[in-house]
Amino acid sequence: KPVIIRSIAELRHEISTFRRSNNGHRTVGFVPTMGYLHDGHASLLRKSSADNGLTVLSIFVNPIQFAPGEDLDKYPRDEARDMKVAEESGADIVFIPTVQEMYPQKRVTTVAVAEVTELLCGASRPGHFDGVATVVTKLFNIVQPDRAYFGMKDAQQIAVVTRMVQDLNMPVEIVPCPILREEDGLAMSSRNVYLNALEREQALVLSQSLSRVAEWIRDGLTASQVIARLKESISRNPLADIDYVDVLAYPDLSRPDDRQSLAEMNVSLLFAVAVRFGKTRLIDNQLLNPA
Ligand code: PAJ
Repeated sequence: KPVIIRSIAELRHEISTFRRSNNGHRTVGFVPTMGYLHDGHASLLRKSSADNGLTVLSIFVNPIQFAPGEDLDKYPRDEARDMKVAEESGADIVFIPTVQEMYPQKRVTTVAVAEVTELLCGASRPGHFDGVATVVTKLFNIVQPDRAYFGMKDAQQIAVVTRMVQDLNMPVEIVPCPILREEDGLAMSSRNVYLNALEREQALVLSQSLSRVAEWIRDGLTASQVIARLKESISRNPLADIDYVDVLAYPDLSRPDDRQSLAEMNVSLLFAVAVRFGKTRLIDNQLLNPA
């Protein structure tokens, strides 16, 4: 059974005891989350526990990455259920700090990543990625992991964290992991519980539309033509309220030349969408590598 630790001092003590122990396989893997765990989170934990001697899971709903009016107060929480997933997926330590433990005094320091945070979710959620970069830096400093596991569900988050780690020489390897989906294709998300039955059904349009992109590329379309097709396909659903649909090179998030068909490009391309169904904003994406 994984051990629950709520204090930073105690976590540091446990991890340093492990590192000094003599079992030959002493790397520390880290999976940061906001809890309400599903199989997407579990897949990161399984990968970490396969790769490392110790796997630390953190569960912390980070207030500074939510803007006023977002879902901070109603973000779903269920510690008992999370502990079951943690145990089944190979977590050794579950770090569950309070807000007071993480932010005991007025914070005057922020980690701000420019450029890669200025489009996609960064454009619709100003300040969000500063909140993510700051808490991930704090968690990296607390856990000091050898490897940290992130899901491609949040592809921009991986781009931001990877760039931050490079720019600031953080001694951690960022390991991207594939998106896990429900059987019908909906990307797993803690926020899916907000959807009513009709919204849940219509939300399928995201994965279904994204799955047609490869075929549109083969047809010779440019970036703006693929964006237009995606928008048209998603908007056929009356409940879908599009926040953004975009195509960018990955992981630098630069804009592809629109005079060229996407099929001729020698870079990985990220097709990313954010769409509201009722009050719930969902994101999904597909990464396509050059042929
Ligand atoms: P959270 O949304 O809980 O996600 C935690 C990790 O699980 C992220 O790396 C996310 O990409 C991954 N994940 C979520 N859904 C997934 C899916 N369907 N398949 C694969 N991986 C999936 O992302 C955060 O929390 C926070 O921003 C955090 C990094 C913890 C900082 O507060």
